[in-house]
Amino acid sequence: MTVEELSTEFACENISFEEGPNGLPVARLRNDLGDVAISVHGAHVLSYAPSGSDPVIWLSEYSWYEADKPIRGGIPVCWPWFGGNPQNPDWPAHGFARISEWNVVAAGQEGDNTYITLELTPDDIPEEFCTFAFKLTLKAIVGSELRVELTTENTSEFPFDFSSALHSYFNISEITKIAVNGLNGKEYIDTMDDSHHIQQGDITFAAETDLLFPDTDDTCFINDLGWNRKITVAKENSNSTVVWNPWAAKAERMPDFGAEEYHGMVCVETTNADADVRSLNPDESHTMTAIISVKNH
Ligand code: BG6
Repeated sequence: MTVEELSTEFACENISFEEGPNGLPVARLRNDLGDVAISVHGAHVLSYAPSGSDPVIWLSEYSWYEADKPIRGGIPVCWPWFGGNPQNPDWPAHGFARISEWNVVAAGQEGDNTYITLELTPDDIPEEFCTFAFKLTLKAIVGSELRVELTTENTSEFPFDFSSALHSYFNISEITKIAVNGLNGKEYIDTMDDSHHIQQGDITFAAETDLLFPDTDDTCFINDLGWNRKITVAKENSNSTVVWNPWAAKAERMPDFGAEEYHGMVCVETTNADADVRSLNPDESHTMTAIISVKNH
């Protein structure tokens, strides 16, 4: 749908639609509690700031905004696989949801909260990926925090497995001035060399970091000493977490990521990945939620 069509059907007091980068339709949810922008391409949260706060979500200045490419930064929706496709290495990394055009199906107000719901079905994706029938829904709710709910529904006649991630990129003062708390004592896989470890204390950053915690439903905190603030990443129905920063060499290799941009971002991803892969029988559904808030010290 065009921005005009979306506006006619869904705009209301706290919701408007505008042309984003490269003309991509973007929904803007703005109320007394916060401000969120969501691209219809990928059902991708581009920005979030609680009222009176600085931006919480990071977006690359080098991102592509093209139909067949993921947006770099924000909250990409990785689904129905995480990382490379296990059967077909030629299929897009992190699944097809983040490179698909979603459909806005509802938007409005629930008390003080403003929400928008987007949907993806097999009608919206290339036939080669249609190996099972599904309904994928993303509901973003702006209230005193940002809730992002990703619901997978099995509309097939047989069970299927899937992985997913709300691959959140956070805006930070400087990667060497932050620590990620909340994962002390948890097992993790260092995906750089597939080695297994137990996290000791907080996670700090001094090199490329790509850690998958396959068994944790704990809330994480990004403690930012540079900006004296703490971002909270709570979650529901997610038993795995990924913490990622590409650092300098990988940043150089990524065409949609500035060479120095790794200083200002960190990913703390709410996932159903690795051992946390989910199975759904016909007519079953599963909702994974990321809940993001911020407090200044
Ligand atoms: C993270 C992975 O989730 O996503 C990293 O752990 C990967 O290994 C990163 O590099 C970014 O992936 P992409 O496909 O968006 O470049």
